[in-house]
Amino acid sequence: MVLRGGTVVDETGSRRADVVVADGVVAAVGQQLETPRGATVLDAGACVVGPGLVDLHAHLREPGDEEAETVETGARAAALGGYTAVVAMPNTDPPIDSAGVVREILELGAGACCEVRPAGAITRGRAGTALAPLAEMAALGVRLFTDDGAGVQDSRLMRRALEYASSLGVTLAQHCEDAGLAAGGHMHEGEWSSRLGLPGVPSEAEELMVARDIALSRLTGAPVHFLHLSTAGSVALVRAAKADGLRVSAEAAPHHFCLTAAAVASYDPVFKVNPPLRSDADVAAVRSGLADGTIDAIATDHAPHPPEAKEAPFDQAPPGMLGLETALPLALGELGLPVGEVLALLSWRPAGIAGLAGSHGGPVRAGAPANLCVVDPSATWVVDPDRLASRSRNTPYAGRTLTGRARHTVLRGEPVVIDAEAQR
Ligand code: DOR
Repeated sequence: MVLRGGTVVDETGSRRADVVVADGVVAAVGQQLETPRGATVLDAGACVVGPGLVDLHAHLREPGDEEAETVETGARAAALGGYTAVVAMPNTDPPIDSAGVVREILELGAGACCEVRPAGAITRGRAGTALAPLAEMAALGVRLFTDDGAGVQDSRLMRRALEYASSLGVTLAQHCEDAGLAAGGHMHEGEWSSRLGLPGVPSEAEELMVARDIALSRLTGAPVHFLHLSTAGSVALVRAAKADGLRVSAEAAPHHFCLTAAAVASYDPVFKVNPPLRSDADVAAVRSGLADGTIDAIATDHAPHPPEAKEAPFDQAPPGMLGLETALPLALGELGLPVGEVLALLSWRPAGIAGLAGSHGGPVRAGAPANLCVVDPSATWVVDPDRLASRSRNTPYAGRTLTGRARHTVLRGEPVVIDAEAQR
């Protein structure tokens, strides 16, 4: 296969080059390369050819909630979004808290459009009381552990988990939310919650746990990854922790740099998410955190819910919104960053955090695994929930015109998306 006429962008820089792929790897990168006999040629004119995107945070709902999403449909949505690898969150039913469920996800992902790497739960049943068998999951290649959907409330247990994770060489990822302070809230606590009469979640519910886990990282020396940072205070805490040389990393979701609590004025549960949509000042802080490297990665927090769940009144609907098919154009269109920096946030930096740097996100050069995406930065398209590959429809961007799209996605040398159409 030849990706013809594009501009290769990776962590080493940018150059006009064709890319030849054979036997699952990049065979050659250079100008006007000859087309090997019988090769498929994919046009990459006016496009960026980069390493595939890596999502640190996707809810694929399998096992247990297959009417919302499956590994197969979620991976297809991911590939259409330009992703070649996604980390599947463990808040499934049963949760991914044992080797058996890890194996099940790996088997389900084997023929999927995108590499699917399960995250394991930190605690058994994500109940926050006893450690899950991290070692047996790590032995199957699990590199990230989280109770996402909930934070680990017990500081002593979190300390033990960090010490254990550190000895195994794996990373804990925290959903930062003080459950007591957040209890009963359905949106960000502030001007809009007062106006709308909906109980709020204060920013401090997130920031207390960010601050605690920075302290625990300092105490244990273990790395901590902060999931979906959403407040200005959290960004400031992580910035200071990094300046202190602590081993912290962080991600932000597109909805936390594109949308604010004002959207909740519609009372449409499609705008309900956890952590909630925040204020203009928080959005500005997340954007500046992404621009200055305080926040290492953009992660989708793709959280499918079936229509009947999202048709409930705001206070009864589950939190979460789709993200895999819209993250790339939102990042390209909203952050005002050069394409190389956007790809850093979506590809090589998250690949490093996920422990996938050997197979995803690396420089596009001869011998590298051919996990690639071809981005057309000027393609415009309208988000139509009925045309998304996800099994659910809960996108907050319905009807919005986006600029930028994954045109082709190549997984292990095979084109899984051609001209924005899935091939599997
Ligand atoms: O909005 C959210 N949805 N936040 C979470 O932490 C969990 C997720 C889900 O699983 O639906």
